[in-house]
Amino acid sequence: MTTLVNRSAASARLTAPRCPVTGPADATCKPVDYAAAREFLTQFHRETSPAKALSRRLRQVRRQIDTTGSYTHTTDELAFGARVAWRNAARCIGRLYWNSLRIRDRREVHAPADVAEECVGHLREATRGGRIRSTITIFAPDLPDRAGPRIHNEQLVRYAAHRTADGGVRGDGRNTAITDRARALGWSRPEPPGRFDVLPLLISQGDAEPELFEVPPDAVLEVSLTHPDHAWFADLRLRWHAVPAISDMPLTIGGVTYPTAPFNGWYLGTEVGARNLVDADRYDLLPVIADLLQLDTSSPRTLWRDRALVEMVRAVQHSFDEAGVTMADHHSESERFLTHVERERTAGRRCPADWSWIVPPVSGGLTPVYHRYYDEPDPATRPAFLRAPHP
Ligand code: ARG
Repeated sequence: MTTLVNRSAASARLTAPRCPVTGPADATCKPVDYAAAREFLTQFHRETSPAKALSRRLRQVRRQIDTTGSYTHTTDELAFGARVAWRNAARCIGRLYWNSLRIRDRREVHAPADVAEECVGHLREATRGGRIRSTITIFAPDLPDRAGPRIHNEQLVRYAAHRTADGGVRGDGRNTAITDRARALGWSRPEPPGRFDVLPLLISQGDAEPELFEVPPDAVLEVSLTHPDHAWFADLRLRWHAVPAISDMPLTIGGVTYPTAPFNGWYLGTEVGARNLVDADRYDLLPVIADLLQLDTSSPRTLWRDRALVEMVRAVQHSFDEAGVTMADHHSESERFLTHVERERTAGRRCPADWSWIVPPVSGGLTPVYHRYYDEPDPATRPAFLRAPHP
């Protein structure tokens, strides 16, 4: 380990790290671990460019780490790292298209206002009027002398949870904490508060106080929900946004952490129709739907919840289809996932998967993903999207 001497000498020259999160072990501003860099670069060369000189690149990176505490990924390394992080995401059923993730390289962007502007650009480019494209925007990494920016919202588009006078919540009950925080920072919520008010983005530079940025309404495509058979469904005035863009999972590639790297795919009907609008601590709409369907709700044994649930998922899928907005269904997506697993096997790779996340929340046993086990996920696998550092 001849580098040890060099590296500690280099570290001594670095200004004190400003490390804002006490999150996943490697989302810190410590100098990059050369072994992690070497492992990643070796994988990159093995999978993409076996002809190019790995040893030259390794020497270069080692030098850069020794003098600066970090190193800069090439454009190709960055794209490969982000795509493989997706490929490694054990909870994601949509991984068949991991290699077509579109990369927006914004590593030069730090300032919260610029991050916000780029997030809006991300939404517009990923939405494309409904022909949704899987996209990631990668902002400045954590460096030993400078922390990257942070987005405190779990997704770029989330609906507020307004506390009401009677002690209840209006909106998406999942988002009470972030809504309270936005209010405390001075967000003036719409009056009267609605059920589907898009939250502002809370963005900070390192550990500084977050700043608020409204997401312009024309950057948020939403679908009004109707039902193919029941006209009354439209009167419920339900809606959902087109693009799920996760914004609170740091991306780690070859020892470098990008704390802000929002990424999106497209929705699966069940995520909206069988969870977001239905979970008891979210919109809790099954009793309302069952009532309108005139189902017998006197006992769980009438299966009124199950029947209402299917109609809800139908409405969501139908509405997205009518609006021309990309949305997968759980039957087709399950088939695609098994194609992915098979492709990975052919490529000689493990394909870790978390059964409890992969199996859809309705009709699990009707889909082929239910009837088998998967390679056990290993939390140390890299590159990866890390679990969000904030609650
Ligand atoms: N389940 C989350 C939601 O309903 C989105 C997670 C990511 N989903 C996706 N299809 N890429 O908002």
